[in-house]
Amino acid sequence: MSFFTERSAELYAEDMRLSDIAEQYGTPAYVYSRAAFTQHYLAYAQALGQHPGMICYAVKANSNIALLNLLARLGAGFDIVSGGELERVLTAGGDPKRIVFSGVGKTAAEMAKALAVGIHCFNVESEAELELLSQVAAEKSQIARVSLRVNPDVDAKTHPYISTGLKENKFGIDINRAPEVYRRAAELPNIDIQGIDCHIGSQLTELDPFLDALDRLLVLVDNLSADGIQISHLDLGGGLGVTYRDEQPPEVATYMEAIKAKIGDRELALMFEPGRSIAANAGVLLTKVLYLKPTEAHNFAIIDAAMNDNIRPALYQAWQDIRQLAPSKAQTKRWDLVGPVCETGDFLGKDRDLALAPGDYLAVMSAGAYGFTMSSNYNTRARAVEILVDGDQVHVIRERESFVDMIRGEHIVEQ
Ligand code: LLP
Repeated sequence: MSFFTERSAELYAEDMRLSDIAEQYGTPAYVYSRAAFTQHYLAYAQALGQHPGMICYAVKANSNIALLNLLARLGAGFDIVSGGELERVLTAGGDPKRIVFSGVGKTAAEMAKALAVGIHCFNVESEAELELLSQVAAEKSQIARVSLRVNPDVDAKTHPYISTGLKENKFGIDINRAPEVYRRAAELPNIDIQGIDCHIGSQLTELDPFLDALDRLLVLVDNLSADGIQISHLDLGGGLGVTYRDEQPPEVATYMEAIKAKIGDRELALMFEPGRSIAANAGVLLTKVLYLKPTEAHNFAIIDAAMNDNIRPALYQAWQDIRQLAPSKAQTKRWDLVGPVCETGDFLGKDRDLALAPGDYLAVMSAGAYGFTMSSNYNTRARAVEILVDGDQVHVIRERESFVDMIRGEHIVEQ
């Protein structure tokens, strides 16, 4: 069910008319639905059911502290990839014992901080990282709980930029080398082996790649067990896709049941790191039409949101629906929706049939994941306001940036 619905031909977020939000708070604006975040998280928690494990929301998808706080209060854990994300989770009231730390480039300082607050587990991505973690933990006289992220070499059949489980990708430890690395980990006194993990890519719309990866991981788990190395949790990462257009990704419950069936009676806690499937369809990006510029080649509609607000179309040729907030009197034509940034790649949608007039408001749909978090100040454009709708209540959860915010920390050289 969507929490962004039409009522009398006007688009709403829960019980709030989006045009009213655009008028009051200006555009571009990210607007999220509290009920959608809640429902999408609970779908995972309920599908996991009584099986031991954790749902660790991937903070990178949308890291606003109000949303992290909301998820923490629902009992979520968190998948982080930097010291900054760790600070966000702690600031938002997340439980450190429910944090897993992924990423190929953890620094010694990040490791030390994560050890100090007692995170659940480091998802170790290389042998060199394992050695550094062991050293940092020894210096602090602490024990680092680890999972090894293995690269199972499966094709996730998604966009190459968001495919991560192939041999040629930088992520994880080659599954064929993993037994050796586990043996090494078992020798290190400040390392405590907990789990095994993988993350093969994002926006997967089929189950098979997940299940192929799982099969390969289970062979490894069984072999390790025969070797005396017991794995207590299995973390399959994130990656479940969403509907942007007409994709039909599996339901969370179907996905989870298929996984539980393969686990069988092995005593393995299950962990997941969903990002997009919780956040994407819980948010939209509101924008306004500034100018219409029909040319011989294209009809350009210049809008006030740009690639700095949502880089997905420019970076991955991603398609996101673009809808009018209210009916327009204009005639429907085919438009390229482009932003004010000085780049030809600055578009949010191409060849869209819309009835547009200057001043009309639009919503870029499915913008709750990898939207705001990938935004930048390119062209010295302030990052957008973020708003959370809860029924008929509206909360500003991040103010629109000011010019002073944008130049904070910059200094003129006097001579
Ligand atoms: N766990 C790890 C280790 C990851 O690298 C990722 C995403 C996730 C979990 C969450 O995956 P999700 O459930 O969101 O698919 N910016 C791209 C997506 C990059 C995903 C990177 N890693 C996009 O906008 O499509």
